[in-house]
Amino acid sequence: MHPLTASVVGGGTGGRLSLRALADSPLFDLVAVADLSPEVRRDLAAEYPGIETYPTHEAMFAARPTDVVCVSTYPPSHEPIALDALRLPLRGILVEKPLGHTVASGRRILEAVKARGLPMAVPHGLLAKRAPLEILERVRRGEIGELRLVEIQCSGWDIINAGIHWLNYFVTLTNNEPLAHVLACCDASTRTYRDGMQVETLAVTYAQTVSGVRVVMNTGDDVRVNADGKQFLFQLVGTLGVIEFYGWDPSYRVLNAAFPDGRMFTPEEFAVSGHRRHLETMAAMVHNNEPDYTIPESSLLALEICEGAYLSSKHTCAVTFPVDEFDPPPRPQWQPGEPYSGTGGGRDGRKL
Ligand SMILES: NC(=O)c1ccc[n+]([C@@H]2O[C@H](COP(=O)([O-])OP(=O)(O)OC[C@H]3O[C@@H](n4cnc5c(N)ncnc54)[C@H](O)[C@@H]3O)[C@@H](O)[C@H]2O)c1
Repeated sequence: MHPLTASVVGGGTGGRLSLRALADSPLFDLVAVADLSPEVRRDLAAEYPGIETYPTHEAMFAARPTDVVCVSTYPPSHEPIALDALRLPLRGILVEKPLGHTVASGRRILEAVKARGLPMAVPHGLLAKRAPLEILERVRRGEIGELRLVEIQCSGWDIINAGIHWLNYFVTLTNNEPLAHVLACCDASTRTYRDGMQVETLAVTYAQTVSGVRVVMNTGDDVRVNADGKQFLFQLVGTLGVIEFYGWDPSYRVLNAAFPDGRMFTPEEFAVSGHRRHLETMAAMVHNNEPDYTIPESSLLALEICEGAYLSSKHTCAVTFPVDEFDPPPRPQWQPGEPYSGTGGGRDGRKL
């Protein structure tokens, strides 16, 4: 099998993860990178001798079309770049998370890729690490019974930048089950921005699937995580047990009938990076001609939860799915927690 020629658009943190993966993998031949910044192009040319560098994706696509393109720029440019890439005789595409800056944009990308029948990678790191993958298998084997609740505590990060990885994992745990609604509240008192976005100081995001599986995610600058020394905590609560893990950490703990006192597991990590695993899985799809959109679809659902959460906080209402078709209702003249005057309408909550 010939290696697939590959190029990357955007040579920042995310793009470098793809560049390193492509350079290390025998399944790919990394030939070009496009970045707006001359300094970035200069650094990458030094780091990857022989790589062609271009100032724009248009110039690169015209001069050096490749089998695979990685779209690793800021989310608002994912759509125009991905759609331009789809005009090439492409065989596979990687689009970084979040697929787009909005659900609508992410959906357009995914639909265009599907219409071409092209294999696609969206490199969510938890889906390429041993511990979270083992946990997925245990949940699917029923080791904690029926999954009821996933509680996530995440300090130092927000819903859209890290939360989307965590929510993508929740969606995967439910086998991409459609969501019913999301309800969230964001405190913005510190006016924190991160990675080009205004984000929350403290937030809670609460969503449920149509069958009722819940996710509760606490994010923000300074979330108190109630597991010693951990920045992240995930608790998967089932009818027959609990599994907890700690984000990118390699360990996890199972509490169920087989391990009634709880047992820690630390599986050996994969020898290759997450981006390389995602890209090599995509290469296998290219060679077998069997695109599988499970991860891109889970990524879009995760983006819907993120967008829905911010919308819910902004309009103080539950947001239903699909989020890009949700129209916020007018704000009701009603203040939960205030005394009811006895007049002025409303619904008698004692009549269920
Ligand atoms: N999957 C992961 O683990 C992971 C990790 C980091 C970043 N990301 C994602 O990667 C994407 C980029 O984020 P980042 O952290 O790398 O940002 P960054 O600021 O580190 O780098 C972005 C780079 O893209 C270049 N760029 C921007 N617009 C461009 C355009 N139109 N054409 C060519 N080059 C362009 C910039 O010059 C810069 O060098 C985001 O979607 C982010 O969420 C994913």
